[in-house]
Amino acid sequence: MGVMDPIEGEEELIHAAVEAVLQSCGTRRESLIPVLQGVQDRLGYLPRPAMERIAEAMQLPKVEVFGVGTFYNQFRLNPPGKHRVKVCMGTACHMMGGHIILESFERRLSIHEGETTPDREYSLERVACVGCCALAPVVVVDEKVEARVSPIRVDGILLTFEIENKEQEAEQQREAGQQETGQQETGQEREEGRQQ
Ligand code: FES
Repeated sequence: MGVMDPIEGEEELIHAAVEAVLQSCGTRRESLIPVLQGVQDRLGYLPRPAMERIAEAMQLPKVEVFGVGTFYNQFRLNPPGKHRVKVCMGTACHMMGGHIILESFERRLSIHEGETTPDREYSLERVACVGCCALAPVVVVDEKVEARVSPIRVDGILLTFEIENKEQEAEQQREAGQQETGQQETGQEREEGRQQ
């Protein structure tokens, strides 16, 4: 699984979160799991620099901290995407082609399960039974349950988000254009006022 590096400005956030958690949980070896949990609670995942700092502060080999981070399913090594796609791989969903759905998302997003797209728009996870087996295969996208998902529906789900993003971008550009026109008009009025 590829591990993403932090984006600009994120390092300070990571540093502050790690120091706060180390201060409350301590640096004894038996605190390692609570420390990792605390950092994940604050940041949503365990970034590589956070694990390096934890290893240093607890005087543990980095490989041990990374080993714990990768061993337990509860820990995420990549940031959650703006849209979290969870593909159910419980028995019923698996029997109804859940793995094909997972592969479809992997192909469309060019990432593997457990990873996040470089623009942090989507993250992809496999999850155990989400409790609505009659609707298999099931995908949960941003807490919304998608029932009887087919590869074509995968395209449809992602297309909906792409359209939403384009609309938002267009809206932001419209707003920026209006602000610019407003500023130009105010400048012009000021200029005219000076000339009178
Ligand atoms: S196995 Fe997927 S909802 Fe139960």
